Amino acid sequence: MPALNPVLAQLPEYPIVRIEAAKERLRAAGREVFDFGTGDPLEPTPDFVRRALLEAVPAVCRYPTYRGLPALRQAAAGYLTRRFGVAVDPDAQVLGTLGSKEAVFSTALAFVDRDGPRRVVAYPTPGYAVYEAGARFAGAEALGVPLRAAQGHLLEPWALPPAVRARLALVWTNYPHNPTGAVAPAEYLARLARFAREEDVVVCADECYVDVHAGPPPGSLLEHGTTNVLAFHSCSKRSGMTGYRSGFVAGDPALVATLAKLRPNLGTAAQAFVEAAGAAAWGDDAHAAARNAVFARKRALFDAFFARAGLEQAGGPGTFFLWFRAPGGDDEGYARALLERVGVVVVPGSYFGPGGEGFCRLALVPDEATCAAAIAAWERAGPG
Ligand SMILES: Cc1ncc(COP(=O)(O)O)c(C=O)c1O
Repeated sequence: MPALNPVLAQLPEYPIVRIEAAKERLRAAGREVFDFGTGDPLEPTPDFVRRALLEAVPAVCRYPTYRGLPALRQAAAGYLTRRFGVAVDPDAQVLGTLGSKEAVFSTALAFVDRDGPRRVVAYPTPGYAVYEAGARFAGAEALGVPLRAAQGHLLEPWALPPAVRARLALVWTNYPHNPTGAVAPAEYLARLARFAREEDVVVCADECYVDVHAGPPPGSLLEHGTTNVLAFHSCSKRSGMTGYRSGFVAGDPALVATLAKLRPNLGTAAQAFVEAAGAAAWGDDAHAAARNAVFARKRALFDAFFARAGLEQAGGPGTFFLWFRAPGGDDEGYARALLERVGVVVVPGSYFGPGGEGFCRLALVPDEATCAAAIAAWERAGPG
């Protein structure tokens, strides 16, 4: 066996992979499976986005640009202005990405000096697994910061011990938050932007769920200043484009210039025809509002069911995830039993890292009729 990168050897299996096997086993046995696992909703991509892609496929398809199509960057800047009242220069402050995951993964490569005194990358736990993976592969010291329900699941880097703060290179935040659905209030975002400026730490805000929410629209960190700040946005959730792979990063021009230097090394530029579809999506808000209304209706079905069944919701109004307490306290055991008893797939909270134990995440992925059918089956079987 050839040698393995020890970072890879130490990483646990990507959590969702563990659920796939159990799901397939049930399907093979002819059971109906209601899949609320992976956050990949089934609502179709808007027609105008699909047409924009098809019309942009050229006869000769040459290498894409590493900064992203000017049309994509302009549409992204237009979106930031309309949605958040933020003005950014599309040439100096925006980069196209191949979805946001690759950019989330690779950003630590640009901002961590693995031999320097400031090599800590802090990220929320429970949370999206890629912050930690990116930090580790970059040779950073990966620091999961536990989120507490009592503090609104807010990651407060200013509350870290001074000795840790002095070694911080980069902080990841993610509001609305996967998996808890927590939304960050404006005062928190203002303090975070001030922290980035005053402590000279790169703060990366993963805002890919910012247009998926019940209640008032969440804000962006960019509203509070761009110094030392990058915001990561994606067409995946807002526009139903997970398979397209299109997103953008925007913020501090010096940080954007650094990423523009890194990224040609990675081979992660998005195809121009995909970016044409992305530009169309960022140019329109009506479809995002309509999608959000669908998620709100599905959420309302589950809110009512959870209340009837005595299942306790423990998360916030953002994202299309419901975060609830696993009856009996064993999240993995509950998720396994729910799959066996009812055919409903949810993800055990512990799969999102320390702090997730005892909770489960339900993604509002199936259509409304399937949500209703799953609720009926769950109700017949009892909450468990
Ligand atoms: C918190 C968070 N960030 C980033 C992503 C990546 O999304 P994409 O690469 O499709 O833009 C996801 C996907 O599930 C996510 O949950």
